[in-house]
Amino acid sequence: MDRELSMEFVRVTEAAAVACGRLVGKGDKNGADGLAVDAMRRMFDTVHISGTVVIGEGEMDEAPMLYIGEEVGAGGTPVDIAVDPIEGTNLVAKGQPGAIAVMAIAPRGCLLHAPDMYMDKIAVGPRAKGCIDINAPIKENLERVAKALDRKVADLNVVLLDRERHYGLMDEIRSAGARIQLITDGDVNPIVKAGIEGTGIHMYVGRGGAPEGVLGAVALKCLGGDMQARLCPEDEAQVKRCLSMGITDVNKVLTLDDLVKGDDCMFTATAITECNMLHGLRYFGGGVRTHTISCRYKTGTVRFVDAIHSYERKDDIAFKL
Ligand code: FBP
Repeated sequence: MDRELSMEFVRVTEAAAVACGRLVGKGDKNGADGLAVDAMRRMFDTVHISGTVVIGEGEMDEAPMLYIGEEVGAGGTPVDIAVDPIEGTNLVAKGQPGAIAVMAIAPRGCLLHAPDMYMDKIAVGPRAKGCIDINAPIKENLERVAKALDRKVADLNVVLLDRERHYGLMDEIRSAGARIQLITDGDVNPIVKAGIEGTGIHMYVGRGGAPEGVLGAVALKCLGGDMQARLCPEDEAQVKRCLSMGITDVNKVLTLDDLVKGDDCMFTATAITECNMLHGLRYFGGGVRTHTISCRYKTGTVRFVDAIHSYERKDDIAFKL
């Protein structure tokens, strides 16, 4: 994939973030999502790809835009696209930190077509690559990661979604001695952070959305980190859904290379609300400032794009809202 595309994708996630920015804290998650979806969809029309949405806003009959199977782009390289115009809609509605507009891209056939169901995930950064085993007790994983990072288990910071289903896991992590950071929503953001040294996050673990798992996996692949996952179909219908999407062994441990195949993927995310490594949208008299991470596997380049957008001179409607 042409490296110039990475800048085009920055525009795509910037547009989604800015479009919904005025609804931060307004308690309207559907309204915010609608604006972000619309802006992202329109910006794709300007990008020179022949993209197929493989992870998106739902099935064709559920979502008017960015539905699974939708063709987007102005024509060009055939690619798979995973999008989440707002990852953390509750966070946007409540004005809380951690919401991002996010997308990932890989050559056609390279992204796992993850159904909308839960997935167990464990994710770490580059120095702990090769140290995780989703089938092993969490204590063992923590000890291996601590060793790889040359620190004590007590010095590890592990992120989990604050859900009842994780109470047992939380107990195990605490009794192993590690620290925990609970989040209310949005698990792509801590997966990305686990891949970047200095963010203070050493591991993400637990059950969250499968589509978000694929988005996080692309980021970690670009960043040189590691991840394992397993789909968690909850009934026969979900098992059938997996089969229809080409996943024959639903219990398989999915490695980073199962989640995103090959050696050519890109990941882009723009902060909507504050994300520590990325500043949330910052408004000023004549415009808005955005902060985006853009990563490319092929070269390992990670860019932080700090952009200032002037309302007056932008054509795109997302910037006029
Ligand atoms: P949104 O789709 O509302 O943005 O929520 C995303 C999310 O918080 C993911 O980041 C996470 O993987 C999943 O939902 C968790 O699902 P649940 O809220 O059912 O535990």
